Amino acid sequence: MSKLISSPNSALTGKVRVPGDKSISHRALMLSALAVGRSEVRGLLEGDDVLATAAAMRAMGATINRLADGHYEVYGVGVGGLTSPDDIIDMGNSGTSTRLLLGLIASHDITVTMTGDASLRSRPMGRVMDPLGEFGAEFSARDDRFLPLTISGTAQPLVLDYSPPMASAQVKSAVLLAGLNTPGRTIVRERVATRDHTERMLRAMGADIRESHEDGVRIVSIEGQPELSPIAIDVPGDISSSAFLLAAASMVPGSDVVIEDVGLNPLRTGIIGALTAMGADITVESESTIGREAMGGGEPVGTLRVRAAALKAVTDLSVDPSTMIDEFPVLFCAAAVAEGVSRFTGLEELRVKESDRLNAMAVGLAANGVQVEELPDGLVVHGCGGRVPGGGSVETHLDHRIAMSFSVLGQMATAPITIDDASPIQTSFPGFTDLMTGLGAGLALDG
Ligand code: S3P
Repeated sequence: MSKLISSPNSALTGKVRVPGDKSISHRALMLSALAVGRSEVRGLLEGDDVLATAAAMRAMGATINRLADGHYEVYGVGVGGLTSPDDIIDMGNSGTSTRLLLGLIASHDITVTMTGDASLRSRPMGRVMDPLGEFGAEFSARDDRFLPLTISGTAQPLVLDYSPPMASAQVKSAVLLAGLNTPGRTIVRERVATRDHTERMLRAMGADIRESHEDGVRIVSIEGQPELSPIAIDVPGDISSSAFLLAAASMVPGSDVVIEDVGLNPLRTGIIGALTAMGADITVESESTIGREAMGGGEPVGTLRVRAAALKAVTDLSVDPSTMIDEFPVLFCAAAVAEGVSRFTGLEELRVKESDRLNAMAVGLAANGVQVEELPDGLVVHGCGGRVPGGGSVETHLDHRIAMSFSVLGQMATAPITIDDASPIQTSFPGFTDLMTGLGAGLALDG
């Protein structure tokens, strides 16, 4: 287990690209594996989570090749064409792989056993098992709702009209993906709109996906058993990975960083609004859309420029948490260096991510001299108005975003911050340490 030591070095300056979007990369592999013909995916995130999805799709019959130029080609098996793997599949740390694949499998007449690492084995699967059971899938899970679990999909799935009890793109996507091989129209009613990459990509591949709004509820539906056309997709840079750079460059005096080709799906860009509300200087330059725009698919992409600014606390964040659900850990770090007391609430979902992120952040911040109060659904962070004391050690709990958040905070710490385990970073941001040090950050692996 390598430790990571984070301490100030210089202002962060330069022009970079971050690795491909994790959510879009998972979906690109899953959906092209169900198309009829050859798809090409460029800029795929080669992080452990996405590689777990690739391995699972191969185990269920798809052909996925990495080409010499680093692009991927996928030969799909067609909707309904997945086959039972001949071994247990290991989803590693990846909740997205697990939940979305459970959706796909639910309406295929196959049986799959899944497991994962200690973090994934502690994450609730009931949220997808419940609706997928209504399609007709059967489950046998540890303590009824945790991995390892075995799912037996059904040959005769029944359509579902479902209102998820929590704001979750994974739950929505699992239901829509189960609907893909279910005759008739499957409906999901979202009280809070969540990232719509699944919908955009399915539409771009020719599926009949509809969206409407009624009394503030977003209603998405899919007509089952389409023939999906293969797709050529350029995966944009991940806004969630960019968030670490946005926060770090905002915090460290003198910084000026440009991030090119970042995915700017409006259901993902809350971090830009949140940091801006704290006084950050972020501009969006040259926005365009990639993908099959004409067919209603495609994802907005742009270049972000961030310059250092004096950050102030936020109390009433007007940004919808679902548009930045993975970015709160690093936003808490920005709040720790801001001037004033920030209060964040309505974030109970953070307790069931790769770690309990409210607790992991509260403990890590306190260990580094930041006064913080943990609420049942949020955090109160007393900003230091500049450098935090630092000097503490942080437990990452197999959570990549905890590791990277404290790497960022260390850039504004009087004494170095030690991150106990750098390895989880590989799940979503390969090359993070080199990219950050290339910009001027002080990050060193130890051990
Ligand atoms: C994701 C949805 C979110 C997010 C996760 C990726 C997705 O999870 O936290 O990193 O790709 O659909 P929830 O659906 O649990 O909010």
